[in-house]
Amino acid sequence: MFTTAFLLLLLSTSTAITTTTTTLDSDISALKAIKSAINPTTIPSYSCLASWNFTSDPCSTPHLTHFLCGLSCSNNRVTQLTFDGAGYAGTLSPLVSKLTQLITIDLSDNKFSGPIPTSLFSLPNLHTLILRSNSFSGTIPPAISNLGSIQTLDISHNSLSGSLPYSLSSLTLTRLDLSFNRLTGPIPKLPKNLVELAIKSNLLSGYLLKPSFNELTQLEVVELSDNSLTGTIPDWFFLQTSIQQVNLANNGFTGIEILKPTDSNLIAVDIGFNKIDGYLSVNFSAYPMLSSLSLRYNKLHGPIPWEYSQKATLKRLFLDGNYLSGLPPKEFFSGKSSVSGSLGDNCLMRCPTSSQLCLKSQKPSSICRRAYGGKVE
Ligand SMILES: *[C@@H]1O[C@H](CO)[C@@H](O)[C@H](O)[C@H]1NC(C)=O
Ligand SMILES: *[C@@H]1O[C@H](CO)[C@@H](O)[C@H](O)[C@H]1NC(C)=O
Repeated sequence: MFTTAFLLLLLSTSTAITTTTTTLDSDISALKAIKSAINPTTIPSYSCLASWNFTSDPCSTPHLTHFLCGLSCSNNRVTQLTFDGAGYAGTLSPLVSKLTQLITIDLSDNKFSGPIPTSLFSLPNLHTLILRSNSFSGTIPPAISNLGSIQTLDISHNSLSGSLPYSLSSLTLTRLDLSFNRLTGPIPKLPKNLVELAIKSNLLSGYLLKPSFNELTQLEVVELSDNSLTGTIPDWFFLQTSIQQVNLANNGFTGIEILKPTDSNLIAVDIGFNKIDGYLSVNFSAYPMLSSLSLRYNKLHGPIPWEYSQKATLKRLFLDGNYLSGLPPKEFFSGKSSVSGSLGDNCLMRCPTSSQLCLKSQKPSSICRRAYGGKVE
């Protein structure tokens, strides 16, 4: 008797649970709006969005035939929109902002176009916004600073234009990727919790300025290659203790100041394909963990500091395509050295072609004489 009653009680409570699991109305209407802003001919039958059939409740589980994927819920609210890269084309409905419990949006590898709706930036709980590899256009509005909980923002591989908003600095971001867009203008003050900064392949211009990087004590990765940044890479830049990887290749930098660090985690530096003049500083060799250094295709003159050949951590060294002169340190060719890379296309004397470092031949002496104002060094 007791057990039957208990079972009945159990049954009735479990039915009560399933029947009360209904998605908030405003979330349902937001989901409907999001689906209907997508061109139905771009929703393949096998895709997540094809299973969004509003005769069922989006958050009710189990999902047997409808709402198989593309969203997750918690307590009858939609918390994640994570689309498959099925090639959905259309716009992102501004009504997405009605999904006020969203923590994650990932619409990567689709064909969303038009502007990123500004209403999106009012989502108070959004941690992760990934719109990578779509065709979003327009500017990044200053209202982006309203994303009070954002950690990861990836809008790389889109068609964003205009300059980076100054309000960016107030964000709590740790990871920002805006690579492969058409962003212009200078680098503004950056969010101070940043760990990873990637804005490669854009049209950024201007100098690396201290106020942009002030207070960034956790910054590890800086990926700013393929832009139009200019000026001298300033001495404080490589002294940022947390920095591990720096890629500034393919810009218009004309100089570099590098001091000996007191503490540094720098592992890899690529400053190839710039217009850096002057001597190759010995100070790179004072970075205790430096393992990969490229200064290829710049306008460096003078000798390769002997200290580079003594640096046990250094595994990759690309100095080709400069006007480096004199005898390269013979320790590079001793057989004990584990450095790979290239010293070719310079003005070096007696770079042994038995070493793969010297496989690419040196510049013709006429070019080297001209580079040194007639004096052969
Ligand atoms: C939605 O589901 C209902 C019931 O399973 C079905 O009759 C209807 O055809 C479905 N609609 C679409 C568009 O698949
Ligand atoms: C190397 O760093 C020291 C101080 O850290 C500085 O005084 C010196 O000018 C630097 N030398 C070069 C060649 O950059």
